[in-house]
Amino acid sequence: MIPPTCHDRVIAPSLLAADFSKVGEEVTRAIRAGADWLHLDVMDGHFVNNISFGPTVIQAVHEHNDIFLDVHLMISRPDRYLDDYLEAGADLVTVHVEADHDVAETLRRTREAGCLAGLALNPATPIAEVEPFLDQIDLLLCMTVVPGFGGQAFMPEVLPKVETAAGWREQRGLDFHIEVDGGIDADTAGPAAAAGANVMVAGSSTFRVPDMAAAIRSIREAR
Ligand code: DX5
Ligand code: ZN
Repeated sequence: MIPPTCHDRVIAPSLLAADFSKVGEEVTRAIRAGADWLHLDVMDGHFVNNISFGPTVIQAVHEHNDIFLDVHLMISRPDRYLDDYLEAGADLVTVHVEADHDVAETLRRTREAGCLAGLALNPATPIAEVEPFLDQIDLLLCMTVVPGFGGQAFMPEVLPKVETAAGWREQRGLDFHIEVDGGIDADTAGPAAAAGANVMVAGSSTFRVPDMAAAIRSIREAR
């Protein structure tokens, strides 16, 4: 498969919104519905006020499926646990710029392991915080909700940061993806894409609707 460029729309259903009593079937459902990537939200109950799942679940998903695994670490010390996620089969590991670690070093280790490196920032974090790292990343994740829970409302005030990042990318000849995460559906994907985002994470609007394939299609086609 040809890897997507930063100009291709990528739909990444978030497993956080799946029915955890049947994770395997839920992953199959997302793949059959046309998911490009699977987004995996790791929460430690410290960086965010919620706990989700860790590397053993991701490893099981990796071993039983063939889909790109987009791992989003909402944890305070990504440097301590990074190797577990690299070994679990992540294709992309995204860490937060607000977490307690040497950001450049974590990104370097991720790429050195042959994995794509992502950097995330929360809605309240100025875009300038990620600027020093733009030539060391494969993906910039602009959170469009305060992380921790699925099902929250999209924050349009984040979109100027997406525009700024897309402008810097253009000026510097870089090619990192821009991902948005939180409250993405057929209505909010259009403005996010217009601002410059190409990777759409969607939990509630994909896993929690009757027709997941139609939902993915409508996010893909949203303008
Ligand atoms: C929020 C997570 C998201 C979440 C999105 O902390 O990072 O990935 O699953 O869920 P929805 O799409 O329901 O807002
Ligand atoms: Zn996420």
